[in-house]
Amino acid sequence: MIDLKNSEEKYYFEKYGEHINSWYMTHLVKMGIINTGIQAEGATITDSKGNTLIDCTSGYGIGNIGHNNPVIVQAIIDQLTRKEVNTRPYINKIQIELADLLKIITPGELECSYLFNSGSEAIENALKLVRLYKGGKKIISMKDSFHGYTLGALSASGVPSFKKGFEPLLPGFQQVKFGKIEEVYGLKAEEIGAILIEPIQHDAGVKIPPYEYLKQVRKYCDDNNIIMVVDEVITGIGKTGYMFASEYFQIEPDILVIGKSLGAGLIPIGGIITRKNLWQRFGLSFPMTASSYSGNSLACRAAIETIRFILDNNILDAVKPKELFLSDQLNKLRNKFPEIILAVNGMGMMFGLEIINKNTASWIVKNMIKNNVIVYQSFGNASIIMVEPPLIISLEQISKIIDGFYNVISGIYSEVTFGNND
Ligand SMILES: Cc1ncc(COP(=O)(O)O)c(C=O)c1O
Repeated sequence: MIDLKNSEEKYYFEKYGEHINSWYMTHLVKMGIINTGIQAEGATITDSKGNTLIDCTSGYGIGNIGHNNPVIVQAIIDQLTRKEVNTRPYINKIQIELADLLKIITPGELECSYLFNSGSEAIENALKLVRLYKGGKKIISMKDSFHGYTLGALSASGVPSFKKGFEPLLPGFQQVKFGKIEEVYGLKAEEIGAILIEPIQHDAGVKIPPYEYLKQVRKYCDDNNIIMVVDEVITGIGKTGYMFASEYFQIEPDILVIGKSLGAGLIPIGGIITRKNLWQRFGLSFPMTASSYSGNSLACRAAIETIRFILDNNILDAVKPKELFLSDQLNKLRNKFPEIILAVNGMGMMFGLEIINKNTASWIVKNMIKNNVIVYQSFGNASIIMVEPPLIISLEQISKIIDGFYNVISGIYSEVTFGNND
């Protein structure tokens, strides 16, 4: 355990631990983050000691277009200074503009959208929409999946440790193994209202399913009149090198759930976009549409400008050579240290390195921070090190990440015991 006495801002860590979240404070200190972050720009964060670190967390998925992207910051300032009517009871025109844009950029026939304040809240509302249409029928989700920390989202999530202590959760959920279509075929279709699925399981350590799997799930839903809900809260908004991973897998969800980077890491926002046929009861239902800040103009402005930034600057084309470089370099690293790195999984700017055990993974993360690179252990599987820089990272910065790994892993042999997973 790293000692806080060398911390520049020990006071804030102790206060944070005392009054906000002692677990998270301890977690950061264990990771080796013992200074506060002072400034963030693009792919980097500068801490209170003046160290500038490359952020391969992207703020845990919210910053696909980099920290404090100046275009979005300016758009938010402009929006604030216009003194527009932001609140109900009036209709928010910016929300309509965003809904139009979402209709254009989302796959298939998704036409109707509603905005919320987080990914979890968007998941809750996707679940409510399923209940409106399918009553008490089962919602099938995946083992090892993660959909958020609210009660409905947790009920759907497939990581038992996240649920512990919050029971009883909502009834009517069942999990099957991700990536195995036989498990879906083995269900009683007439009992199922919806299948909720992440196209790539992020928190499980970037698990990519067999390419045909999602198409097979789609067909099963079509054949059995089941709603397919695709959670792209983290994979969406360019993270995989596609605007949505659903495009890569060539599927059209019935309900697409989005969030995180849609607000550019600056303003919280989440949303659901659905086919029109699923919308009739939604529009009639005040309890689905009444969250106080949902669809507020500041969040919608941030979202519109984020999408435009990605489109106008060809960010998705530009990420391809970076993806190839990062993937190639991580695989070379794995070939050099096969006893430590067992596998490299990922696409776009979302990679997971499967490490021999979680103690070694923790050691690497801590020492990467000393090398001014922030990577992290997956919350769903601590043996996986997540490498997820923003899409706008430079090739030079990617080289620094790789150099950091070589430095750290070369020095590892005398420090850790392999094969110990305690
Ligand atoms: C796939 C997925 N769904 C939903 C959520 C919940 O989003 P939020 O943290 O904005 O509530 C997350 C958050 O990590 C996520 O990764």
